[in-house]
Amino acid sequence: MPSVYIKTYGCQMNERDSEAVAAQLVAKGYALAPSETAADVVLLNTCSVRDAAEQNALGRMTTLVGMARKRRPEQVFGFLGCMAQSRGRELIDKLPDVDLVLGTQKFHRAAEYLGEILAGRREKIVDVAEEQGSEATIKEHLLNGKAKSAVTAFVSIMQGCNQRCTFCIVPDTRGEERSRTIPDIVAECRELVARGVREITLLGQIVTSYGKRDLPVKDGRSAFVQLLDAIHEIEELERIRFTSPHPKGYGDDLIEAYARLPKLVESAHIPVQSGSDRILKLMHRGYTRERFLGIIAKLRAVQPHIGITTDIIVGFPSETDEDFEQTLSLVREVKFQNGFLFKYSPRRDTPAAAMPDQVPPEIIESRHARLLAQINDIGLAHYESLVGTRQQILVEGASHRNATRLEGRTRTNKIVIFEGTDRHRGQLMDVRITRSGSFTLYGDPAIVNVE
Ligand code: 5AD
Repeated sequence: MPSVYIKTYGCQMNERDSEAVAAQLVAKGYALAPSETAADVVLLNTCSVRDAAEQNALGRMTTLVGMARKRRPEQVFGFLGCMAQSRGRELIDKLPDVDLVLGTQKFHRAAEYLGEILAGRREKIVDVAEEQGSEATIKEHLLNGKAKSAVTAFVSIMQGCNQRCTFCIVPDTRGEERSRTIPDIVAECRELVARGVREITLLGQIVTSYGKRDLPVKDGRSAFVQLLDAIHEIEELERIRFTSPHPKGYGDDLIEAYARLPKLVESAHIPVQSGSDRILKLMHRGYTRERFLGIIAKLRAVQPHIGITTDIIVGFPSETDEDFEQTLSLVREVKFQNGFLFKYSPRRDTPAAAMPDQVPPEIIESRHARLLAQINDIGLAHYESLVGTRQQILVEGASHRNATRLEGRTRTNKIVIFEGTDRHRGQLMDVRITRSGSFTLYGDPAIVNVE
């Protein structure tokens, strides 16, 4: 059977989609190749959020097909996911060696289409159509290639987004909001837990809008909170996370869930995008700075140690120095534990791309550098403040930085590296934090034990 290599660009949703495609191909007998050059089939699962992400994937594919022409003309190439969806056939016009272009509602067809291409029945396949029910097709899990059972897993609960933020291409690449049912999601989670998973991260482009159109509010609880309640019932599941929410989804029912559900960890990634009301309005975000701050205050009232991180766009059209100062001051006020900064990138067919007063690149660069320095100062000071504290971690396995050590995560989603053995994998344990590095903590389990 052929071997496949899948390279993933972009977000956790893309990682999850790639994993589902890999699992689907492994089930058909494919081997997972160690590199692109060693693989019979190379799939790039793409991101369209910024132009840079698209250019990375296009550049990589150009290099790969160039090498294959000389050495392995029979190698099969495919683009999957968001850029495949938004560019479609244009990708094959540009790169004629590409064999497959598979959109975001078609991941589950990868094996079938590759089979046809490899058997020589079809030469090129482009499928970026909508497909009813596709939200419930991302189900197969690889769980670390099955060699070791994984401790954490992603579960896709919905697809698409209807928010239409003016900067964002995702409503075009991922389509309208469609949600899976609660029993379907719970069944997948139960199976994962039976296979050793202890922490589940629920995924979607706007998870807080989960089930809005399908499930009425019950006892004051939105569909998303009803889903959290149902997953919380699963025995032996220790932790629940989710990403990405929208700030407007933090109603009192969700805030109250943080107080009520012990498995819902004290961690929230809440994209704010800007600290200026004028820019938030132009972005069509649907909240003000004050409302955002109100949500943070409510969350901290129920979980004082909650770890809050965010996404911010720098240089949205017409952003002035004053608007940018508002973002800096919001970051100081909230004290995010970390933040992901995005330089504004005009996206095809989005309202913001046509707005006047696009910000010059050199101003974006200098604002980005200032904001990054501030985010790092605040984040690293917080990490440093945890030295000497005791933290509960879930041990995930060998450290990515140093394979002789293990790593786990705190409930607030911080990586802790410590000396341990593989028998700690999958366990919840208390460690004493001994030092902090760059957005990493180091812990000592022994110190806790001798107390
Ligand atoms: N330019 C820059 N950043 C963007 N994001 C989304 N669209 C754009 C764009 N056009 C960022 C947002 C979002 C994150 C995933 O990507 O901050 O939260």
